[in-house]
Amino acid sequence: MNFSKASALKGEICIPGDKSISHRAVMLGALADGMTEVTNFLKGADCLSTIQCFRNLGIRIEEDQEILRIYGKGLYGLSAPSDTLDTGNSGTTTRLISGILSGQPFTTVLNGDASIQSRPMKRIMVPLRQMGADIVSIRGNDCAPLRITGGSLRGIHYHSPVASAQVKSAILLAGMYADSPTTVTEPSLSRNHSELMLNYFGGDVKSKGTTVTIQPNPRLTGRKVSVPGDISSAAYFLAAALIVPGSEVLIRHVGINPTRNGILKVARQMGADVTLLNHSEGEGEPTADLLVKSSSLKAVTIEGSLIPTLIDEIPILAVLACFAEGTTYIKDAQELKVKESNRIDTVVENLIAMGANATATEDGMVIEGGHGLHGGLVDSHMDHRIAMSFAVAALAAEGKTDIRDAECVNISYPSFYKDLNSLM
Ligand code: S3P
Repeated sequence: MNFSKASALKGEICIPGDKSISHRAVMLGALADGMTEVTNFLKGADCLSTIQCFRNLGIRIEEDQEILRIYGKGLYGLSAPSDTLDTGNSGTTTRLISGILSGQPFTTVLNGDASIQSRPMKRIMVPLRQMGADIVSIRGNDCAPLRITGGSLRGIHYHSPVASAQVKSAILLAGMYADSPTTVTEPSLSRNHSELMLNYFGGDVKSKGTTVTIQPNPRLTGRKVSVPGDISSAAYFLAAALIVPGSEVLIRHVGINPTRNGILKVARQMGADVTLLNHSEGEGEPTADLLVKSSSLKAVTIEGSLIPTLIDEIPILAVLACFAEGTTYIKDAQELKVKESNRIDTVVENLIAMGANATATEDGMVIEGGHGLHGGLVDSHMDHRIAMSFAVAALAAEGKTDIRDAECVNISYPSFYKDLNSLM
């Protein structure tokens, strides 16, 4: 797909629902008693994979234009699927559902696409086995396909070596089926959507610092869930408005949960003109409108406990760094290597193809900014966040850019190119 330099971006945009929250709404809706109604559900391929998995586990789910209805059957209402569950490209589906399947008295095989088959699953297999689940990597490489036989579990206190919401959530979901409370401590705080939504549905989850404990055997009740706009999707419009001169864009109803809003903190530190309007607390998930004006940016260092709060935004932050005066350092971000692609390599490779002075490091990257970018041949490596980041880069680059496999944005944002065009 071809892109060229844009003139000032103007207008308003209402971005689709949060991917993490959409997945969790289906999962908890399925395990609750009674109906859950979800508005602003993200109909991206990843969340559709979660829906299909739960249909195959015997849950009725109806989609209409505005509302997703999940007819929950309670904590013990899932039935054995007749075939392998297909988690597609979705790490969240694969890891979270593994936690749930660990508590089921039947065997399930899980598999996904080529990317999923190379992503690390040992990080969930180790704690889920400690809890008593029988979970094996069928090819013996600690990746999917996985075969899971669940049953009664024991509560554990797990010290996770990685700050990962997928790991934490898999353990908490399994913890519902344990004989005693389950605790997870992580090295720094990852997104807390599971904790918030479990409590909203009637569970008992308590957090203190980076430690969270769930009480077993909760009685979850179907609820109405209104999904905020995804800050990870909003990030592309925020960045585009910042680097295309003369732009002014209003991004409506964006989730600004503190465990997710690192991009806003860093953008401000870089000198971005971003104003938060219409702040609302919602059902534990705060939202705001973001008014963004193009700005001159300066380089910063992004590291430490900030990293989990902006982990999916690092590709677009790397693009911003090219337009910022000075040298940007991204550290402590080795998790990028095990995302939908190795995002240290795929970001740096594509930045270099567009003329940037960027270097990959063991745990991140170094980018010498201030020289802008030129058009080039970009490979998305079938990674939705790489495609969207470089589509934005192309709008501020001199000349034409060609993005290979650009349609992979379908995973998290099917209408991305249409929405981007609407601001031109
Ligand atoms: C997610 C957690 C993060 C994030 C992913 C979604 C979630 O992954 O990168 O896009 O919904 O829990 P990790 O838990 O692997 O950090």
